[in-house]
Amino acid sequence: CGIVGYIGQIDSKEILLKGLEKLEYRGYDSAGIALSGAEGVTVFKEKGRIADLRSIVDSSVTAPVGIGHTRWATHGEPSRVNAHPHQSASSRLTLVHNGVIENYVQLKKEFLADVELQSETDTEVVVQVIEKMMDQGSTVEEAFRQTLSILKGSYAIGLLDNQDPDTIYVAKNKSPLLVGLGEGFNVIASDAMAMLQVTNQYVELMDKEMVIVTREQAVIKTLTGEVVERAPYTAEIDASDIEKGTYPHYMLKETDEQPLVLRKIIQKYQNEDGKLVIDQDITDAIDQSDRIYIVACGTSYHAGLVGKQFIEQWAKTPVEVHVASEFSYNMPLLSEKPLFIFISQSGETADSRAVLVQIKELGHKALTITNVPGSTLSREADYTLLLHAGPEIAVASTKAYTAQLAVLAITAAVTAEVKGHELDLDLVKELGIAANAMEALCDQKEEMEYIAREYLSTTRNAFFIGRAVDYYVGLEGALKLKEISYIQAEGFAGGELKHGTIALIEQGTPVIALATQEHVNLSIRGNVKEVAARGANPCIISAKGLDQEDDRFVLPEVHEALSPLASVIPLQLIAYYAALHRGCDVDKPRNLAKSVTVE
Ligand code: G6P
Repeated sequence: CGIVGYIGQIDSKEILLKGLEKLEYRGYDSAGIALSGAEGVTVFKEKGRIADLRSIVDSSVTAPVGIGHTRWATHGEPSRVNAHPHQSASSRLTLVHNGVIENYVQLKKEFLADVELQSETDTEVVVQVIEKMMDQGSTVEEAFRQTLSILKGSYAIGLLDNQDPDTIYVAKNKSPLLVGLGEGFNVIASDAMAMLQVTNQYVELMDKEMVIVTREQAVIKTLTGEVVERAPYTAEIDASDIEKGTYPHYMLKETDEQPLVLRKIIQKYQNEDGKLVIDQDITDAIDQSDRIYIVACGTSYHAGLVGKQFIEQWAKTPVEVHVASEFSYNMPLLSEKPLFIFISQSGETADSRAVLVQIKELGHKALTITNVPGSTLSREADYTLLLHAGPEIAVASTKAYTAQLAVLAITAAVTAEVKGHELDLDLVKELGIAANAMEALCDQKEEMEYIAREYLSTTRNAFFIGRAVDYYVGLEGALKLKEISYIQAEGFAGGELKHGTIALIEQGTPVIALATQEHVNLSIRGNVKEVAARGANPCIISAKGLDQEDDRFVLPEVHEALSPLASVIPLQLIAYYAALHRGCDVDKPRNLAKSVTVE
C-alpha cells in the first residue's frame, strides 16, 4: 500500500490524486482520499484504480489539507468499505495506514467490544482505539501516542482530526514513510516519487517515531515524547524518469533501457583508469567471510541464483541463496564468518527486511544491493551497492534484474582480484559486448511478438527449461510470464521435468528451452526431444555457435558466463507480448504490487 498527505495553502485534491498515481505500483485494488477543510473532513473512496477514485471525487469539494491511500489488500477483500481512509465511530478521526497490525484482534477485544466496526481491516481498529483513548480524556496527540505504544506490527500512518484542520499526525514503524518539506506547506509520502511534484526536500523517519505536521513545520518525536532533530536531504530523482513518454507501457520502456543501464553501471563502477572498483570495505568483508548468504524475493531471488555462480566461480567464496520469507523458519546452520547480501530492487521488501533485522541482532554484517538509495534495506545494512537503473515502475521487474546481475558480476570480479584469483575474462569488455547484444535484442521486438503469438496466445500453461545457469534464467522467464499474462508457467532444470512434471505435457504444450551453455548443450537438447516426443511444442533459444537447425531464436554473441544478461531479454519481451495479446494490464497485473511492505 502507499500513503500520501498534504497540508498547505492550495487545494490538496489534485496533489493527492497525482501522488497516489505515482504510488500505484505499491498496490491498486482500491484507493481513497480524505479532504479536511473548514467544513470538516470529507472522504472519497472506491474499489479499483486511482482512475476509478478520480471519477467519483466531487470536484466542488476543495480543502488545503488531505491524506490519501492506495491499497494492496491484506485484511479484508478489496472493496469500497475496506478501502482507506477509515474513520472513528464519531467520524472525528480519519486515518490511512500501510502495514499490518498483528495484534488487532486483541485490541478489538480489549477496547472495542461496544463498537460496531464498518470494515474487516486491521486499520479501522487503530482509528477506533485512538478515539477510545480520547474518550478517557486524552488529546488527539496523546491518544495517538498511547495507541502507537500498544500496536504490534508495521505501520505508516497519516491521521486527521476534523476539529483541527491545521495538523496531520504521522507515525512510522517498519513501513516506509517520508516527510517532505516546502515553503508554507508540508507533505508525507511512502516514496519521494509521489511528492516530487511539489518538493524534493525530504526528512527520513525512523521506526517508532511520530510527527506533528503543520504548514510551517514537521516536529518529529519519539513515542516517549522527546523531540528529534533531523536534517532534510534532497531526493535526486529526475521527474522525467518516472514518466512513460511515448511508450505504451512502463515495462516496455524499462526493458528497452537495459543496455543503457548496463553501460551506466560499467561507468559508475570504473575508476579513472577504467578499472572496475567497489568500496574496499565491501571486498574486505567478502574476503574475510567464509560463506555468503544471499537473501531476496521474487525476481531479485532469481538474480541471486545467477550471482552465486559469479561469486563462487570467480571469487571462490561459497554462496547459499535463500528466499527471504522462509529464512527464519528454515534458518540454515550459519558458518563461522557469514556475510549476508540482500538483493532488492526497492530496498523496502518486508520479508527481506525481517531477515536483515534478525541477522543484525545476531551481530552479522550485511551488504544491500538495491536500486533505491536511502531505502530501508540500504540504511540498515553495513554496506550498499547501487543498481543505478533509474526508477522501475512496472510491477514486473526487468532492468533491475539485469542491473543486479551486472553489479553481482562486478562485485565477484573485484573480490576475485582482491583474493588473488585470476579471471579468464575482461569483464569491462564483456559487459560492453553484452550491452550491445541487449540492444540488438531490444530491436527484435517484432520477432518476439511473433513468438509470443505462435506459442502462447491460447495456451493454459508453459514450461521453461534449461541446465546450469539457463535453469535460473528460465525461472525468471516463467515468473515474468505468469506475473503479467496469468499463463501458468514454471521453470525447471532440464533434467528434472521428467521426474514428474512431464505428466503435464500435452499436445501443443509450449516448452521454452534455453541453450546458451556449451557443457550442457547436448543434454538440454536431449530433454527437448523427450518433451517433443510427448507432443510438446518446443521453442529453443540458443547462443550463437551452439545453435542447431530447428532453433527458434539465436541470441547474439556474449561471453558464456554473462549469457543471462542477453537470454532474459527475449523472455521478458515474449511475456510482454503474450500479456498484451491476452488483453492483460501489463504494468499492473492483478493481485500483485511492486513493493510489498508486509511480511
Ligand atoms: C514483489 C514484486 C516482484 C519483486 C519482489 C521483490 O513481489 O511483485 O516483482 O521481484 O517483490 O522485490 P524487491 O524490491 O525486494 O526486489
